[in-house]
Amino acid sequence: MLTKEQNDALTRTAPGTPGGELLRRYWQPVALSSQLPSGGAPVPVDVLGEELVLFRDQQNRVGLLDRHCCHRGTDLSFGRLEDGGLRCLYHGWLYDITGKCLEQPAEPKDSTFKDKVRQTAYPVVEKAGAFFAYLGPGAAPEFPNYDFLTYGEEHVHVHKLFIDCNYLQANEGNYDPAHVGFLHRTFNADRRPGLNFGALRLVGVTKDDLDLAAVDPHEAPRLEVEETSFGIRIFQQRSAGPGRKYLRVTYFCMPNFSVIAGPQGGDGQIGHYHVPIDDETHWRWNFFVRRDAPLEDHFRLPNHLKKPGEYSDPYTITRKRSNRFMQDRSTMNQNFTGMGPNFNTHDAFATETPGRIQDRTKEHLATTDVALAAARRQALKAIEDVRAGRDPIGIVRSAAENHFPDLLSFDVVADADLSNSEVVRRVVENHVTEMV
Ligand code: FES
Ligand SMILES: [Fe+2]
Repeated sequence: MLTKEQNDALTRTAPGTPGGELLRRYWQPVALSSQLPSGGAPVPVDVLGEELVLFRDQQNRVGLLDRHCCHRGTDLSFGRLEDGGLRCLYHGWLYDITGKCLEQPAEPKDSTFKDKVRQTAYPVVEKAGAFFAYLGPGAAPEFPNYDFLTYGEEHVHVHKLFIDCNYLQANEGNYDPAHVGFLHRTFNADRRPGLNFGALRLVGVTKDDLDLAAVDPHEAPRLEVEETSFGIRIFQQRSAGPGRKYLRVTYFCMPNFSVIAGPQGGDGQIGHYHVPIDDETHWRWNFFVRRDAPLEDHFRLPNHLKKPGEYSDPYTITRKRSNRFMQDRSTMNQNFTGMGPNFNTHDAFATETPGRIQDRTKEHLATTDVALAAARRQALKAIEDVRAGRDPIGIVRSAAENHFPDLLSFDVVADADLSNSEVVRRVVENHVTEMV
């Protein structure tokens, strides 16, 4: 449970709010690369309660400006791309990618007024198929070298989904492992043993010694958390036969994303960012990385082609609040929800229905909520750090520190005598250990 003040601090993200100031200290994805190809039209971007425009000038340089012209507010996303910048349609003021006003053609020839105004502009980088922006004050920190943002194109794919609620409650679903065995459950006798969709690592256990049939995917996991330099590591532990344990290791990362070894196949993981459009809606970004081989084509398909009927376009889930998620109770013997097989639908249902901004003064957290409680504590502490003028956790200011080898989500069967931290240490050091 949170107090109203704490809930507001974590969920309100407009400029000047404590939560908004925190999120602005980190690079955030704001548009897909495919939305702004070379020569493309300017793209309106709504993020953290701000209305912005993303554009490429004639030299292909990318700029992100306040969408409303600083003269009298007209929308620059309709503007002309010419003469080294973006020109407003109302009176022709011209801005470059840094927000400098290059021309005010209706002003007297000898006017210097253009040098006195500035359009708000934010730094942008293009990585892993998306544009990221830094909306905070001062110098931007290093762009973080998370592996799902740094692998080559063949190994990474990104897509985004519109989610109709505050960013926090949807992100909290990512570090709430206890829901998986209920919300996403299918009553399918063919379910293969184990829990992993991709590689399974072995630490202190040999392949011959492995008995995946001993792992019950519906056994409630024991949860443990530990702090890292960038967030919270979550251990889900189940039994895997005598002397062994099955561990699934996932992450909350500051301030608004999670990392989970998911269904990308092989050795890989997915970074899930939840980026506010405003306080009541957001984009869920999924960055898939597969390290051991190129991602299969299937993962690159737009959602509406990958799962026909489940999405009305690449960004929108068909089932939603207004159609009661098209629940068909006669199918509740096939899956837990009666809302079809799509995990994204299930998550949208569970996290949108508490309300646009969940009232956390009314919740009753239980033992399975240990990770989200730890994540909230960490974020509230980071808000205090920002207030006090300190960098919050996870911000990196030098290239030497900019690597995150222990941001590694994976499934492992390990010797039960090893501590969970030791299992992670061995996997990170050897990286591969043995994989099956
Ligand atoms: S409002 Fe943009 S130039 Fe006047
Ligand atoms: Fe889920």
